[in-house]
Amino acid sequence: MARPTRALISSAALIHNYSLAQKGSGAHCMPMVKANAYGHGAKDVCKILDQAPAFGVASIEEALELRKSGIQQPILLLEGTFSACEIAIAETHNFWVMIENHRQLDDFIAAPVSSMRIWLGVDTGMHRLGFKPQEVNSVYQRLARSGKVDNTCVLASHFASADQRGDTMNQRQLTCFEQAYRSIAVSKGTKLQQSLANSAALLTLPATLRDWQRPGYMLYGNPPFIAEDQDARLKPVMNFVSAVSSLRRIDAGQPVGYAAQWTTQRTSVIATVPVGYADGYPRHAPNNTPVLVNTQRAPLVGRVSMDMITVDVTDLPSVQIGDPVTLWGSALSVNEIARRCQTNGYELLSGVSARVPRVIHADEDNTTH
Ligand SMILES: Cc1ncc(COP(=O)(O)O)c(C=O)c1O
Repeated sequence: MARPTRALISSAALIHNYSLAQKGSGAHCMPMVKANAYGHGAKDVCKILDQAPAFGVASIEEALELRKSGIQQPILLLEGTFSACEIAIAETHNFWVMIENHRQLDDFIAAPVSSMRIWLGVDTGMHRLGFKPQEVNSVYQRLARSGKVDNTCVLASHFASADQRGDTMNQRQLTCFEQAYRSIAVSKGTKLQQSLANSAALLTLPATLRDWQRPGYMLYGNPPFIAEDQDARLKPVMNFVSAVSSLRRIDAGQPVGYAAQWTTQRTSVIATVPVGYADGYPRHAPNNTPVLVNTQRAPLVGRVSMDMITVDVTDLPSVQIGDPVTLWGSALSVNEIARRCQTNGYELLSGVSARVPRVIHADEDNTTH
């Protein structure tokens, strides 16, 4: 029998979430599949979302992996290129390239390429990537004069706080973006498209919708707002599951796990589950983080080990070896687990490690086990 720890991936839930994003977009909707599609398996996610017009990744390595798997749509390199030699490779493979700083701009102007789709990044306040708003026109003119851009360029920016409902920074960034867009004198015969919205903006800030939306997290079925466990419109795509592999009754006053960080207060039944931090279950998950055993909640107790966790199932007397366990998924929100661990669901999902088999299935409610 194989180790039972798996990430069950519902293709039906993914398609459902993408349709919702597409409807909300009112224009092009580009799935973000960086970081192995937020841990869900980028190749499979792209194949399931084969209607998407393009995909977004963090590096040319991620993009090349997708091409090797037969993905044919354009792929946007969200951070652009990290070295000059990547530009010609990007043209060969029909990757779209973000240009967001002068080094990337100079490399592009000097590169042996003839016609590429360029996304021009503008820093509207996040101060991580992008040109200053007051320089985007001159950057655009340099690109246009190079004769190396195709007839469509996309002005893009990214929200710092769209996941904070009502944050005033969203409006400030939008205003800044609009000013930057208006400052650009678009060359004759060419189009300048726009792109701003991530998941949170797509769901709650309709004024930010432009030619291209770039949703990531919502496609995987969870609300991008950390305080919210579920959005009734979305279906969680990943069920991170395992099964009870060992059970023991121990006396009151006995320690459990590394460093004896938890001690039984009563005679207790401890279930061992073969999932640990090397699988992506967070090592810093505290005592009492909920785990579903046979669909019922039970508390994690003791430290998370590399390959195992321990769960107090004293109050679930029918539990047996082999019973199903859910770490997060449709019946236990990854956002809830993330809050317990003082992180976000993005980190947990994208941290599910390579040794966890991804099992694709078509059950929309994602209850397959
Ligand atoms: C540039 C860019 N666009 C879009 C996204 C998607 O954001 P989300 O997953 O919140 O939808 C990201 C994610 O970090 C990003 O870096």
